[in-house]
Amino acid sequence: MYCVKNTLCWSSNDLKNPENQQLIKNVIEQGNLIIFPTETVYGIGANGLNPEAAKRIYEAKGRPSDNPLILHIANRLDLYRYVRYVNEEAEKLMDAFWPGPLTLVFEKNETVPFETTGGLNTVAIRFPKNEIAQMVIDLAGVPLAAPSANISGKPSSTRFDHVYEDFNGRVEIIIDGGPSEIGLESTVIDMTSDIPTILRPGYVTRQMIEKTLNHEVNDVSDTKPTGAVKSPGMKYTHYKPIGDVVLIRGDIKAMSTYVKQQRLRHEGHSMAVICETEYASYFEGNVFVLGSKSNQNEMAHNLFKALRDMDKQSIEYIYIHYLDNNALGYALMNRLEKAAGYQIVDL
Ligand code: TXA
Ligand code: MG
Repeated sequence: MYCVKNTLCWSSNDLKNPENQQLIKNVIEQGNLIIFPTETVYGIGANGLNPEAAKRIYEAKGRPSDNPLILHIANRLDLYRYVRYVNEEAEKLMDAFWPGPLTLVFEKNETVPFETTGGLNTVAIRFPKNEIAQMVIDLAGVPLAAPSANISGKPSSTRFDHVYEDFNGRVEIIIDGGPSEIGLESTVIDMTSDIPTILRPGYVTRQMIEKTLNHEVNDVSDTKPTGAVKSPGMKYTHYKPIGDVVLIRGDIKAMSTYVKQQRLRHEGHSMAVICETEYASYFEGNVFVLGSKSNQNEMAHNLFKALRDMDKQSIEYIYIHYLDNNALGYALMNRLEKAAGYQIVDL
């Protein structure tokens, strides 16, 4: 296909070719890297049981090595090969949401190297629903450690051109699965605490989890990056475009006025607004629409693309309308607050 510099770029069709299937096995066996689609975001995967392979992932992403990786499996029973103990509540959550966008954290056993878990005694396990992801994991014959396929700190990748831009020439294979169906990373929940604790909100919402378990769970995902953090991923800068990002909370007409004022202040600089479809007409100039405010799935689908488009168009000042915080909106705002470095203006 269309890649250069030692990277093979495949479509899902190329996966049917037996020679290519063998190549996947070889690449994984040699501890090298494959980028593949999942239903959430693209992942950059390698053998999660091989310490050297895990190191290559950190290197390729430029990711601090104490930020643990998720182990991806393609068969629920494989879970028991890597963890010490699976409680009844975890079984309930897997019944309800696997395969799918829910990652569970367990005590790890000795099979899983500390290089994969960033030195932790726990391991995060995910069984993705995407068929290409399942096929790649099956072919690999080992669980794949796979963080989101973005250079550390940048927005996650939800389109082929995102991974191409970040990793062409730096991984062995990229598989194009089209735009990610969901567009937000999986929900991460710690099952080692007495009460399950949400570490990262995602497509599977707190309400869905509580309904399944029939009781309340903890949520530490909105902890700002100061003090003690439960999930190492929470302490690093994330999703940040190069430009200055501000979230604007409040009435849309007030935001419209505010943005006009900023336009005068930053004359000669590039500016953009990111908002819901319904509000686009309140702004002039560059307006990036996430989707309808009544369609959170659509907004999730476009979120990381919008953030990456800011850099593509060299936008210096970015104003994002604060979305409704309910249901999936909670996960959307979790990403946007990080993208804004927690800069919020209340009008
Ligand atoms: O949807 C997803 O989960 C995507 C796709 C590729 O599967 N993967 C992904 O991986 O988002 P990554 O590495 O970008 O994010 C993993 C998150 C990080 O915040 C990390 O700190 C947390 O999960 N995590 C991983 N292992 C953990 C552990 N043992 N304890 C606590 N948090 C953990
Ligand atoms: Mg990530």
